[in-house]
Amino acid sequence: MNQDDKKRLLGVAAADYIDFLLETEQYIGVGTGSTANFFIDALAKVKHKFAGAVASSEVSAQRLKDHGIQVVALTEVSSLTVYVDGADEISGDFSMIKGGGAALTREKIVAAASDRFICIADSSKWVKQLGRFPLPIEVIPMARSLVALEMIKLGGTPVLRQGTITDNGHQIIDVHDLEISDPTGLESAINQIPGVVTNGLFAHRGADVLLMDHNNEIGTFTRSGGGPA
Ligand code: 5RP
Repeated sequence: MNQDDKKRLLGVAAADYIDFLLETEQYIGVGTGSTANFFIDALAKVKHKFAGAVASSEVSAQRLKDHGIQVVALTEVSSLTVYVDGADEISGDFSMIKGGGAALTREKIVAAASDRFICIADSSKWVKQLGRFPLPIEVIPMARSLVALEMIKLGGTPVLRQGTITDNGHQIIDVHDLEISDPTGLESAINQIPGVVTNGLFAHRGADVLLMDHNNEIGTFTRSGGGPA
C-alpha cells in the first residue's frame, strides 16, 4: 500500500466509524488536508445519517458542498458529536502537531467544540516525540518578527511560510528544531506570546481515537489503550 492508498482507506474507515455514532439530527466537525479529503469523499455515502457539517477551512467547506453535504457555521450549532481530521505528527499520548495545511486555527476551534476527536493518520505520522515536523504558528502579520525572536529564545528556528495567507488573513511561521518534551507546557507558553493566533500543538485537546494503518491493516486505537506498538 502506498501512502495515498493508506489515506484513502483511513478516510473510508473514519466514515464507517462515525456511521455507528451518529443520529440524524447531529452535526459533525470536518478537518482539512489530503487525508481529510478522502474522509469527505467517503462521507458522501453516509450523508443521510447526519444533519450537516462544520468545516475547518474554506477548501473543506467547498468539498463538502460539492458532495451535497450541508455546511453550517459553528455559531449555528449547539454541539458537534465528532471531529475527524488528519495530523502532521501524533505521539503516544495522542498529542499532535497540525497545521501543515495552514488551517490550524479553525481546526483547533472545531476540535474544541467537538465531543470526540478522531485522528486519521497514516503510520508515517506516528512519532516517539513531537518535533521532527516543524511546528506551524499562525501569527498576526505585524507581530511576526516578535514571535520569531521569542521562538528562537525557546530553542527553535523560525521560517516564514512564503506566499501563505490563512483563511483568517494571517501568516504562518514554521518553527524547526524544537525540543518538545512537554507538549502541553509548550502549547501554553507559545500562546502567551503577543501576536500568536494559534500554535499547531494539539496537546491540551489531543485526539481521543486514532485510526492508523498497522501491519497493512487499519487499526483503531484509543488514548487510554495506547497507539500502535
Ligand atoms: C491541515 C492539517 C492536516 O491535518 C495535516 O497537515 C495533515 O495533512 P495530510 O492529511 O494532507 O497529510 O493540520 O492544517
